[in-house]
Amino acid sequence: MQNLRFVSVAVLLLGITSSMAFFTAEQQEIAKNLADACQKELGVELPADFVTKMRLADPSLDNEVSKCALQCIFAKVGFTDAETGVVNRTVLAQKLSKGNPVEKAEQFADLCANNEGESKCDKAFSLHQCYHKNKSIFN
Ligand SMILES: *[C@@H]1O[C@H](CO)[C@@H](O)[C@H](O)[C@H]1NC(C)=O
Ligand SMILES: *[C@@H]1O[C@H](CO)[C@@H](O)[C@H](O)[C@H]1NC(C)=O
Repeated sequence: MQNLRFVSVAVLLLGITSSMAFFTAEQQEIAKNLADACQKELGVELPADFVTKMRLADPSLDNEVSKCALQCIFAKVGFTDAETGVVNRTVLAQKLSKGNPVEKAEQFADLCANNEGESKCDKAFSLHQCYHKNKSIFN
């Protein structure tokens, strides 16, 4: 279930659930709503299965539209700054610690707080990549 956690995290950030262990139909729905809102906001067309692709870190997300959609979603939940795309380490650690041991949340935030990239969309993508490389922390 570890692949499911990132979306669960995004959902968790909204305070909807305190458990990151499951990716329920309800969570999927919320994640979809976030993606839909961002699609409208950005005026772009996302693949219908964007949320699934995000969850699985599908290689096809390595494009401008998807990266900016990630940034939009992350900014909405407070992971990244809406203007700069820079990780807000405090928010990241705080919200992740709601469904995980605090030490793990802190460890993850330390590893992934320096999200580099030329644009804010690149930075959001970098955070997403870092998550997929380091998600075993939460096992
Ligand atoms: C992180 O987000 C919190 C809550 O929105 C805010 O108070 C804080 O100033 C932010 N920190 C940075 C470095 O942007
Ligand atoms: C964690 O992510 C960083 C940054 O992307 C990467 O350099 C590192 O190899 C990852 N660590 C693990 C254990 O995967």
